[in-house]
Amino acid sequence: MNNYKRYLVTSALPYANGPLHIGHLAGAYLPADIYVRYLRLIGKDVVYVGGSDEHGAAITIKAKKEGISPREIIDKYHASFKETFKKAGISFDIYHRTSEPIHHQTSQDFFRILNEKGSFVKQTSEQYYDEEANQFLADRYIVGTCPKCGHDDAYGDQCEKCGSTLSPTELINPRSTLSGNAPILKSTTHWFLSLDKAEDWLRDYLEKGTLDGQPHHDPGEWKNHVSGQCKSWLDGGLQPRAMTRDLEWGVDVPPEIEGAAGKKLYVWLDAPIGYISATKQWAIDQGDADKWKKYWQDSESKLVHFIAKDNIVFHCLIFPAILKEHGGYVLPDNVPSNQFLNLEGQKLSTSRNWAIWVHEYLNDFEDKVVNHVDVLRYNLTRIMPELRDSEFTWKGYQETNNNELVNNLGNFVNRVLVLTQKYYEGIVPELDTSLDFIGSAAPDEAGNYEAELGKIYSKLQAYCAAIEGYDFRGGLKAVLEISSLGNQLLQFNEPWRLIKTEPEKVKQILHLSVQIVAALSVACRPFLPNTSDKLRQFLNLDLVKESGELSEILTVLERGEPLVATGHTIGKAGHLFSKIGDDFINEQLEKLQNAAPAEPTFEALKEEATFDDFTKLDLRTGTVVAAEKMKKAKKLLQLTVDLGFEQRTIVSGIAEFFSAEEVVGKQVVVLANLAPKKLRGVESQGMILMAENEKGELGFVSPQDGFGNGFTVR
Ligand code: 2FM
Ligand code: ZN
Repeated sequence: MNNYKRYLVTSALPYANGPLHIGHLAGAYLPADIYVRYLRLIGKDVVYVGGSDEHGAAITIKAKKEGISPREIIDKYHASFKETFKKAGISFDIYHRTSEPIHHQTSQDFFRILNEKGSFVKQTSEQYYDEEANQFLADRYIVGTCPKCGHDDAYGDQCEKCGSTLSPTELINPRSTLSGNAPILKSTTHWFLSLDKAEDWLRDYLEKGTLDGQPHHDPGEWKNHVSGQCKSWLDGGLQPRAMTRDLEWGVDVPPEIEGAAGKKLYVWLDAPIGYISATKQWAIDQGDADKWKKYWQDSESKLVHFIAKDNIVFHCLIFPAILKEHGGYVLPDNVPSNQFLNLEGQKLSTSRNWAIWVHEYLNDFEDKVVNHVDVLRYNLTRIMPELRDSEFTWKGYQETNNNELVNNLGNFVNRVLVLTQKYYEGIVPELDTSLDFIGSAAPDEAGNYEAELGKIYSKLQAYCAAIEGYDFRGGLKAVLEISSLGNQLLQFNEPWRLIKTEPEKVKQILHLSVQIVAALSVACRPFLPNTSDKLRQFLNLDLVKESGELSEILTVLERGEPLVATGHTIGKAGHLFSKIGDDFINEQLEKLQNAAPAEPTFEALKEEATFDDFTKLDLRTGTVVAAEKMKKAKKLLQLTVDLGFEQRTIVSGIAEFFSAEEVVGKQVVVLANLAPKKLRGVESQGMILMAENEKGELGFVSPQDGFGNGFTVR
């Protein structure tokens, strides 16, 4: 079942409407990159595709808001994504885009075939319409109150607060995001994918891992939260789902189909087909236009989609249904979706600017953090939200860099290279395996050359098993364990001491240590590609071969042979990592706090008041005509307020926020029938209304400019 000949790996196509943050990277790109780099290292035939998702309402809404064309938006973000991924070392075989003609054709061909096969039902229904903008309001064009959680700004397709999938008609008090107006209902016709008919085979495919009665994949390999989400969709019963929209931007419904005018494909129909069109373009670029078919249409190909959890339903149910209806395509073997990454205790949020932007990190930190790309990749892998939501903190970033990369990996490599240079002028020493030394596992373990190579071998096996099981944190841990073995070997044997008394033994220890560095240079590659290159340079070896080098070293180690031969001359050690100080971390925390507006907190509502309660209050408009600071009272100003029919003296606790000078002339609302009260010897005859935010800051509640004094507020 798992003997696939080749692999097609995808990462979710990001919407080209805003920059990428570390949550995106940790969600769908870094894990896929680790996986494909690993597959290449064990000699597998793999194609890794990605691209920008350039359709969908989010893009056109942003374009409208900024007064520019959707084309300008997608061109900007597509170029930026491409560069960002490249710098972050995400090793796509192709990074494509859905605005390309080849994608439009591929998606339209899918639509034609499904239409001919009767996979759609055409339905006319009433949908929300914005009369001012002359547009139907699907997906992100409409917001309203979420019927599930009460969130005020739920979208027509999804509530971002509680994660529920919605349809516009479920929203309470819907309003158009184009005009803000309440929409009207208007009838329109669309093509719906009959998902209800796919329910039975989807259940077999997802729950039993069978397809057409044949074993397809091992459902036990799927993450629980992915299978769980699929199950709850299936248990809820699948409904036909609209696959077209009334929009101006997107892939046209093939024009020869009756009723196509003005209709576009739903973005979630065309986007995953983007994986196919990207592979087609890759094949053309390879000079063999048909080559894509092997990856998509041959049952010996393993298809794996890397996504974040908000995309599960589309990749596990809808896209498989589309592929199956079309026929002739492979279905995903696994969809190892990640959960969400939080940042410093809060949800990552583009709109609130609560994020670490990947392009900013890549540009700004090059001179500040040694090996900055790999340091980020290391940190994000270490906390990857593989099974549950996880959290990035700057403190954690600092600690893992300093304790694990610098003190463990960097320190080991540095000691080995420096000592080999110092004692043997960089020449890997010959071995006398009859000499005893202490093994790397424990200070009382008798060392044995082959056993030490065997330990690296078994760590590497655990490493392979982890990565093949999509446990990338586990794979990375195994890499660091190999480095720990090396550190212990040095620590227990103390070659820097032994060199004076038993120099022959030191040869064996350093020879072994060089082998460990060589193993690390291969094993770290999927996670830390730049580190791998540096290690190879330090060792004076060719860069790790992307095709099959890990398999080769496993064979050598299994035979109990060294990876680097005696007599090989290594190079000089350079900087691999370096410590990150507190100042740097504090700077980042401050930057984050300053960039994001604080999340407002609201007081709980008081208990209900009747209208009669309200009418007891006599609220009047007024103007402050004089003000002075009260002596020995930090918070108080004594105000004279003109109420039109009379002037009042009012003592007000606003002096911390406003000076006497600046309040003169302010229009205010006065609670005019409040019982007078003496404050610091002055009788206060009323109260002016002020708003207070969560920080305790005050703001005036004022009638509009020029509104007269003395009038009732009701
Ligand atoms: O959620 C998103 O950002 C979508 N643009 C992902 C699309 S994945 C695929 F289907 F193209
Ligand atoms: Zn909700």
